[in-house]
Amino acid sequence: MEENKQTMEHSLAKLPGPLLAWYRANARDLPWRHTQDPYRIWVSEIMLQQTRVAAVLGYYARFLEAFPSVEALADAPEEALMKLWEGLGYYSRARNLQKAAQQIADRGGFPEDYAGLLALPGIGEYTASAIVSAAFGGREAAVDGNVLRTVTRMTDNHADITDPKTKKSIRRQVQAILPETDADMRIFNQAMMELGATVCVPNGPPKCLFCPARSICLGHLRGTAETLPVKAPKKARKREDKTVFLLLQDGKTALRKRPDTGLLAGLWEFPNVDGALDEAAAPLAVEAWGLTARAWIAKRNAKHIFSHVEWHMTGYTVEAAGSGPPDFIWMDAAALKAHAVPSAFARYYAEAVKLLEAAEQEENHAVLEKE
Ligand code: ADE
Repeated sequence: MEENKQTMEHSLAKLPGPLLAWYRANARDLPWRHTQDPYRIWVSEIMLQQTRVAAVLGYYARFLEAFPSVEALADAPEEALMKLWEGLGYYSRARNLQKAAQQIADRGGFPEDYAGLLALPGIGEYTASAIVSAAFGGREAAVDGNVLRTVTRMTDNHADITDPKTKKSIRRQVQAILPETDADMRIFNQAMMELGATVCVPNGPPKCLFCPARSICLGHLRGTAETLPVKAPKKARKREDKTVFLLLQDGKTALRKRPDTGLLAGLWEFPNVDGALDEAAAPLAVEAWGLTARAWIAKRNAKHIFSHVEWHMTGYTVEAAGSGPPDFIWMDAAALKAHAVPSAFARYYAEAVKLLEAAEQEENHAVLEKE
């Protein structure tokens, strides 16, 4: 055991030199790698949590254009902020980002140390380490899924990476091999992640032929890399059935704001009820809102997968009369587009925009003919 541990640490100790040289020659050219501004690095790290680089790039550019400084973000109207996050998912990230921006603005600048960053909303160990190293050369190991996979393969470690103890021990191992200089430290964590994202890839064989660590990687040398990391199976996602109503009236559709806590908190949704209602039950839900259904236009199903839940949606497009409950806000196409509606409703959102814009055009034609 003791001997095995020594071998593991020995192989990892040789990593930084080849890793940093490889990164300098091969890293992807990503916008947050051209800056040492903690604000820009922070925004990138929050967006990259649970989200692929390709999906983040456009959001990142638009976000920084709208909110070029921490003060601009602190003062942003909620609706504008959520609209810029629309489609990126995990919306509490955006709310925490703003809360943290307000704290940073109040204290007169970014904390420049690990503990100060860690105290901000939405910043955990990984993110605090990633920011402090890239922005200030701080000596902290950032351990995300990429790093866990790479290190367990390099050290032929078969411990379960979903166990917090494993993560802690791997962080300690990486902490022990951090490079000496500020310049190296600014890119070290990025380089570890880059190796995991582009070479020591998940879901399929690692690309060992292109790996700067192949001669020192125990998983490669022993042929175990492809079986690592060991990961306890996740709990199955909970299934929830819902019935969503696309209610149309005079070129408008009804939306309501979701509660301030829980899934998709504070975002806008099409009115919906629990359960998959059939054609006999759906009219009762419309009546229960005090509306009269004038015509049933379409029925469309959709599915959306969140991390812990999946929604199976039955959707009805209905021409309705009446105003409905006080939290129903009737919006035309322009108003709908100005509100943040999460991707879970994408199918109904697209349908609503199409129908409302068509209704508007018809209205314009009718006006022209009269004139
Ligand atoms: N994933 C998390 N942080 C990242 C970064 N800075 N660059 C690329 N992918 C990442």
